[in-house]
Amino acid sequence: MDRTLVICKPDAVERGLVGEIVGRLERKGLRLVAGELRTIDAGTAARHYEEHQGKPFYDDLVAFITRSPSLVLVVEGPEDTYKVVRTLMGATNPRDAAPGTIRGDLGVLLTENLVHGSDSPESAAREIAIFFPDLEG
Ligand code: RTP
Ligand code: MG
Repeated sequence: MDRTLVICKPDAVERGLVGEIVGRLERKGLRLVAGELRTIDAGTAARHYEEHQGKPFYDDLVAFITRSPSLVLVVEGPEDTYKVVRTLMGATNPRDAAPGTIRGDLGVLLTENLVHGSDSPESAAREIAIFFPDLEG
């Protein structure tokens, strides 16, 4: 099986949309293998979003992802699971995201786009190790 990291971001938890988002992942055929409701600390956020360090939106991004609890998940499917999740999520900016996607149906702000999904198999492995270092393969 092939795994990826999903984060239902603080806006999703605050708005009570976690069930909707997890339901979409499950109905698609993905399976939950780990999950934790946690307030992401600044150090973990910096590791997770290290590719964005130095960009103009970086400080706002870290402030957002650390402001209240997120539901951090590992999900698995037969193959290309990161890609399946990214397709379900829709475009980064919810204003551009297609209807039928999580961001397209449920969001309207780039800065509050509800969900994170790893963007490659390498990112998935790196991010799962950050959030669930003890998870067995
Ligand atoms: P994520 O990492 O959160 O799953 O989102 P993503 O891959 O679709 O987008 P990415 O390029 O990795 O950007 C990470 C988050 O930063 C915010 N962002 N703001 N103001 C801006 O120009 C800008 N660009 C990106 C978004 O909230 C995005 O989810
Ligand atoms: Mg990203």
